[in-house]
Amino acid sequence: MSRPSPTVSVMLDAARAAAKRLVRDFGEVENLQVSRKGPADFVSTADRKAEEIIHEKLSKARPGYGFLMEETGAVEGSDKSHRFLVDPLDGTLNFLHGLPHFSISIGLEREGVLRAGVVCDVMRNEYFWAETDQGAWLENRRLKVAARKKLVDALVVTGIPQLGKSGKDRFGKELSVVMEEVSGVRRHGSAALDLAWVAAGRLDAYWERGLAPWDIAAGAVLVREAGGMAEDISGGDLLATGDVIAGPEPIALPLRALLRKVPAG
Ligand code: IPD
Ligand code: CA
Ligand code: CA
Repeated sequence: MSRPSPTVSVMLDAARAAAKRLVRDFGEVENLQVSRKGPADFVSTADRKAEEIIHEKLSKARPGYGFLMEETGAVEGSDKSHRFLVDPLDGTLNFLHGLPHFSISIGLEREGVLRAGVVCDVMRNEYFWAETDQGAWLENRRLKVAARKKLVDALVVTGIPQLGKSGKDRFGKELSVVMEEVSGVRRHGSAALDLAWVAAGRLDAYWERGLAPWDIAAGAVLVREAGGMAEDISGGDLLATGDVIAGPEPIALPLRALLRKVPAG
């Protein structure tokens, strides 16, 4: 059994502290659901508060490290080699609707390369973590991507562009192509958890376009350390494009080939 390194332990502690706060706020969101204005404001408070907790914990334990956080943006550190990538609440729309499926995602880059990741499934109290060459873990159980070899047997997860996002036509075309080739397609609403569940072998593959670096950073390390690939669909820089294809190669490669055939326009 592998133990998390001191830095990953710090990331796990920060996620635990933020999760406590999110659980509390989630209870209140459910009570506030009748109000239309309230929940939207409330969620941004929950986002910001969770981010504040994570930032405070991490910067105390690792002074000088830089940050890229969804709500605050980039915070430069004196240590130019390390940067945390933080999404304090991934799955805001679920959270807002009282749907108990959302996560906290904390990735770590060293010299611009993803090295470690923690994804916390807040309501299931599951903490996924991974570190380069140390494997991917759910608490102390080692994770492995699914063993299925054929696309036709695969259960695939994706992200549907939400209101205000571009790429809806392209997504529609991709979905109708993929639907014909796999067992089933799911949409759960938290990119970081989609990746964690691919790492755990609960889902065979994942694709989505237009994600932000904080959505993907931690989950990509999880999938890679669980023996899968997590890459940009077109072969570019994953964190720059945010177009992710992830899963074990026997499933993710043919899925990627299908997606590449769908015209962008
Ligand atoms: C969103 C979730 C969702 C994905 C969106 C993301 P947020 O993150 O990960 O699954 O489809 O593209 O923006 O806004 O809830 O942090
Ligand atoms: Ca997100
Ligand atoms: Ca978020």
